[in-house]
This record gives sequence, C-alpha cells and structure tokens, in this order.
Amino acid sequence: MAKVVLITGISSGFGKAISELLASDGYSVYGISRRQKEDFTGKIKLLQADVTDVPSIKNAVAALLTREGRVDILINNAGMGITGSIEDSTQEDIELQMNTNFMGYVNMIQAVLPAMRAQGGATIVNVSSIGGLMGLPYQGFYAASKFAVEGLSESLRMELLPYKVKVVVIQPGDFYTSFTANRKPTNTKDTAYSDQFKKTLSLIEKDEKGGLKPEFLARKLSKILKKKNPCHSYIIATLEQKFAVVLKRILPGSLFSSILSSHYGIK
Ligand SMILES: NC(=O)c1ccc[n+]([C@@H]2O[C@H](COP(=O)([O-])OP(=O)(O)OC[C@H]3O[C@@H](n4cnc5c(N)ncnc54)[C@H](OP(=O)(O)O)[C@@H]3O)[C@@H](O)[C@H]2O)c1
Repeated sequence: MAKVVLITGISSGFGKAISELLASDGYSVYGISRRQKEDFTGKIKLLQADVTDVPSIKNAVAALLTREGRVDILINNAGMGITGSIEDSTQEDIELQMNTNFMGYVNMIQAVLPAMRAQGGATIVNVSSIGGLMGLPYQGFYAASKFAVEGLSESLRMELLPYKVKVVVIQPGDFYTSFTANRKPTNTKDTAYSDQFKKTLSLIEKDEKGGLKPEFLARKLSKILKKKNPCHSYIIATLEQKFAVVLKRILPGSLFSSILSSHYGIK
C-alpha cells in the first residue's frame, strides 16, 4: 500500500519539487497551497487551504482522511520571509511572519496528530532553515520563526515518542526558488537603517539567486524518508554553508557574529 504524504506549499519551490519526486517514488501525495483549487484527478492530489486558517486546514485534512483513512507523512513546508530591520518592522508583518512560518506548522501538526496517533505511527518533517540555527541581519523575524520551529520540533519529538511519530527537521541553506521574489520588505519608509538594509538585502538575494536548485533538496529528502531511523535534523546546503554552521557551534559568539556581519556588508 502506498504511503500517504501531505505536504504544504506545493505550488512552487521546494514543495513543487518534493511533491513531484515523491509522486514518482510511488507515494500517494496530497499537497496544500492557497492558490490551487481542490483537484484529485492528477498524480498529485491538490487541496486548497491557507495554513494560517485553521478551518481551511481541518477541511483539507478531513478530505484526505476520507479518501485514504491515514496520513503517514506530514511535510510542513509552506512559508515566506519578511525583511527589514527589527526596529522598523510593522506589527502586521511580524504577525504574518510568525503566523505563516510558525503557527502554520503548529496548525498542521494539530490537525494530523489525532490520525497519526490512532494509526500507530508516522513521520513529521518540519522545513526549518540555516536561519533557524543562526540569527541573520534584516531577517530577524524570519530567523525567529525558524528558531521557533526548531524548539517546537525538539519538544514535539519527545512528546510523540510513545506514539511512534518521528519528527525530522531539515535545515536548507540558500536555494533559488520563488521565496526570493515573494519576500516582503517591511516598512519601506526611509529610516536610519535604509542604506544598510538595501546593501544587505542585495547580498542576501545574490546568495539565494546563486543557490542550489530545489530538486537537489527533494532528492535528499526522498532518501531521508526511506531511512528506517532518520536523524533528528539534516542540513541541506553547500559545503560553505555547512561550514558556517560548524563555525557557529565552535567559535566564540563575538567572532562568529563579526564574520557573519562582514559577509552581509555590515561594519
Ligand atoms: N528558498 C530558500 O533558500 C529557503 C532556505 C531555507 C528554508 N526555506 C524554507 O522552505 C520553505 C519553502 O520555501 P520555498 O523556497 O519553496 O518558497 P516558495 O517558492 O515561495 O514557496 C512557498 C510555498 O508556500 C506556500 N504558502 C505560503 N504561504 C502559505 C499559506 N499561508 N498557506 C498555504 N500555503 C502557503 C506558497 O503557495 P501559495 O502562495 O499558492 O499559497 C508556495 O507554494 C519555507 O518554509 C522556507 O522558509 C527556503
């Protein structure tokens, strides 16, 4: 019997690449996004929902469970980024960031867990980021949303041990997806930070546009899902970015912070 996968954010980027690869691997794939209408006729079954809107998620999960009776894998992937200085960020944008990247994951987890516990096991994959392991300038609330995903995943993993539900976190580095174009600058008024912000944002975008392809991440995740005992987390990134994570762990905070600041053009 094909394993049933539910993945959020499948209309572009990672979600699109992952859902296509898992469908060709033989999984029964259901994908959520806001812009696609419900459609069960294709190789990937489409569900329309907004991860920040609990009733729409409950409807989508109910539609899946009516058809399949189980959900073996949840991949929490839908997300976006706001950008701007912490001082200038608007309340509305901060809420959008946390509601999408953090509460969106929580909402999905709460919606699928009753079925996952009842069926006696499953896997939850939370897509975090290298930004969930180190704060990034002018992406403070994005990093905060991913740090929150990291903490949530650690706690959840222990709570779900008795129910045989595994929790795996993946931490991608820079990839070139629609994420860059969809990023929302917060508060575009001229402020004390404007010149530095523009300079740093262009470096962030340069890194992303030169980043890896989402298909690379999809292939890595497909392998992870085949493991009987997957690790708690996987960094999926270039060697340079993996090295940055190691440096963050071993260097004094002040030294690491000055290396990272200089990478982003901040003196
Ligand atoms: N690209 C990178 O370099 C990178 C690096 C590290 C981590 N990540 C993380 O990877 C994940 C996927 O990002 P991506 O790069 O693939 O970006 P993307 O190409 O912009 O895709 C984002 C997906 O999320 C969906 N989405 C956004 N808000 C949603 C909502 N409220 N409800 C339902 N779906 C929603 C979008 O679909 P609709 O607009 O149709 O709803 C879209 O399918 C995110 O969690 C991101 O933080 C990305």
